[in-house]
Amino acid sequence: MRWLHFALAPAFALGGVAACGEDATPVFGADYAATFTEVRNCRSSSDHDLHRIKVLVDPAAHDPYTLRTTAFPVGAIVLKEEFDFGDTACAGPVIEWTVMQKLGSAEDLGWIWQRVAADRSVTTENDPLCITCHTSCGIAPDGYDGTCAMP
Ligand code: HEC
Repeated sequence: MRWLHFALAPAFALGGVAACGEDATPVFGADYAATFTEVRNCRSSSDHDLHRIKVLVDPAAHDPYTLRTTAFPVGAIVLKEEFDFGDTACAGPVIEWTVMQKLGSAEDLGWIWQRVAADRSVTTENDPLCITCHTSCGIAPDGYDGTCAMP
């Protein structure tokens, strides 16, 4: 059964890599700009390192974010593009992203929290700093379900 051995070995090798991969993957695809919509335009953020920022959402998060009448469905994504503070027009490049993806449970305020570097490596996931600060700002009147800004 030598052929079987050769046929299966690469499959096991690949499975091993996937199973052992410790690095988190960004919750948003590299091509997110094709489907996400801008809901807050370029401005400075005193709470996010004085970076210039823009907020974009995926189609599932659009109505909950802008209308605030329905819950964010599980999997919905709210993403902040962050730019250098001197980049007053948010012309780019993006220097990092902070992003929230809705969970199906209440832990961590009901969201996955990621800080993602320009090379798409995940710098932090579920950092308590994000969760603590959004716990206090993510309530009415400015906040809504863990998000902190009026659209
Ligand atoms: C010091 C408080 C504070 C910390 C820490 C913080 N945020 Fe925020 N965040 C805010 C505030 C206030 C806003 C809304 C105003 C603004 O954009 O500055 C916001 C906005 C956002 C938004 C845009 C959606 C919205 O309207 O709320 C995302 C996404 C986000 N934060 C993710 C994160 C992630 C991920 C982390 C941790 C890596 C984090 N934040 C840490 C205060 C904070």
